[in-house]
Amino acid sequence: MPAKDLNAKQRCLLGLTLVAILATVMFLSSPLIVAMGVTLAALALLVVYIVFNLSVHWVDVAEAIDYRQTQNRYTARIDRYRLSLSALPEGVVLFRQGNTLEWCNPAAERHLGIKLTEHLGKGLREVFSNEALVSYLEAGDFAKPIEVTSKLTGGILSLSAVVADQTHFIVTTRDVTEQRRIEQMRKDFVANVSHELRTPLTVIRGFLDMILADDNIDPKIIREQLELMQAEASRMHNLVNDLLSLSRLENKDDTKNDLPEVVNMSKLVAALAEDAVMLSNGRHTINTDITTQKAVMGFVDEIKSACLNLVSNAIRYTPEGGKIDISWRVNDDGSAVFSVADTGIGIAPQDIPRLTERFYRVDKSRSRDTGGTGLGLAIVKHVAIRHQCQLKIDSEPGKGSTFSLIFAPENVID
Ligand SMILES: Nc1ncnc2c1ncn2[C@@H]1O[C@H](COP(=O)(O)OP(=O)(O)OP(=O)(O)O)[C@@H](O)[C@H]1O
Ligand SMILES: [Mg+2]
Repeated sequence: MPAKDLNAKQRCLLGLTLVAILATVMFLSSPLIVAMGVTLAALALLVVYIVFNLSVHWVDVAEAIDYRQTQNRYTARIDRYRLSLSALPEGVVLFRQGNTLEWCNPAAERHLGIKLTEHLGKGLREVFSNEALVSYLEAGDFAKPIEVTSKLTGGILSLSAVVADQTHFIVTTRDVTEQRRIEQMRKDFVANVSHELRTPLTVIRGFLDMILADDNIDPKIIREQLELMQAEASRMHNLVNDLLSLSRLENKDDTKNDLPEVVNMSKLVAALAEDAVMLSNGRHTINTDITTQKAVMGFVDEIKSACLNLVSNAIRYTPEGGKIDISWRVNDDGSAVFSVADTGIGIAPQDIPRLTERFYRVDKSRSRDTGGTGLGLAIVKHVAIRHQCQLKIDSEPGKGSTFSLIFAPENVID
C-alpha cells in the first residue's frame, strides 16, 4: 500500500518502525555517540511530524463539528418555519424547479385535496386536476389571484402564487366561501329593499302625476287615491321600522351588553290576546290558554314584538271564520312555550326552512295585499337567538300552522 494511502495512526507507526530500524542499524554499525545522536534526531523529527499531523487533524475535527452545528441550526429553523406554516388557516404549497411539489401544509391538503406523502415530487398536472388552476400556474402571471372551487370541501378558494426565488414558487389558498356568501347576502338585501321601496313609491308617484295632470278630477276619486297613497306610505313606514328593528337586533347580537329583566309572560300573553281580538275585528274565533304563571328572563319589548308578529301572522293568513289559539304553558322538562295555532292556509314543507329569511314570503302578492314586508319572522328569529329560544314551526297546507317559541328551562323563572 503506498504511504499516501495510510491514515495518521498508521503513518506514526510506520515512522516509529523506521526510527527503530535506523537506531538498530546505527547502534550495530556506528560508535555509540553517533548512533544515539542520529536516533534522537530521527525521534525528534518523528515527534514534529506527529504534532503537525495532530494539529491538522484537530482543525479538521473542529471544522466538522462547527459545520454539523450550523446544519443542525438550519434544520431546526426550517422545522420551526414548517411548524408555523402548518398552523396557518391559509394553504401553502411549495413547488421547486420543474414544477414538482416539495412541501405543503395541512390547510393546503384540505383545500386542494393534496396528500403530501402521495404527491411529494410529483408535477403540477399530477397534483392538480383543475385545468384552470394548472393553466394559471403554468402561465406564470401571478399578478391577480384566481378563484377555484375546493375539490374536497366544495367551498370557494382564492388562490394566488408568488415566485420565491429562481428555483421555487409558492402557491397560497384562502377559503373565501363565507366572505362571498355575505357579499351575496348584502347584494340581495340591497336589491330587496330597493324593490320593496320602489313598488309603493311608483304607486304614489303615479297617483300624484294623475292628480296634477287633471284639474277636474272628481273629489271622491281624489280622496280614494289619497287613501291608497296613505296605505302605500304606511307600508314604506312599516318597512323602514322593521329594517331598523332588525339592524338594532343584529347590533345587539354582537355586543350582548344589555342585562335581561324578568318578563311577566302571562300578563304579556293576555294583552296580546286582546290585541288579536282587535286585529281580527270579529273575523276569527280567538282562544287564550294561559296555564302557568311562570316568567322568563329577557327583554320585554323584543319578546312582545316577536309574539305579536306570530299572532298577526295567524290572523293575516287565516281566512275569515278560522280559529286561533294563543297559549302559554310549561313542559315537563321545565321549558316554557308560547304558541299560536291557527286553522289558516298553512305552509308547504319546502317553504318552512326559508320563512325566517329576510323578505321571504310564500305568496308575495297575498302578503303585500295585507301590508306584509316579509321581515316579521326574520325579526322573530333574531329575538329567539337573543333569548336562547327555539322557534318551532309545524304546518300543513290547507289545515293550519302552529308557531312556538320555546324558552329554555334556565331562562324560565317562578
Ligand atoms: N301563520 C301563518 N300561516 C301561513 N303562512 C304564514 C304564517 N306565518 C307566516 N307565514 C308565511 O311566512 C311569510 C313570512 O312571514 P313574515 O311574518 O316574515 O312576513 P309577513 O307577515 O309577510 O310580513 P311582516 O313583515 O309584516 O310580518 C309570510 O309572507 C307567509 O307567507
Ligand atoms: Mg308577519
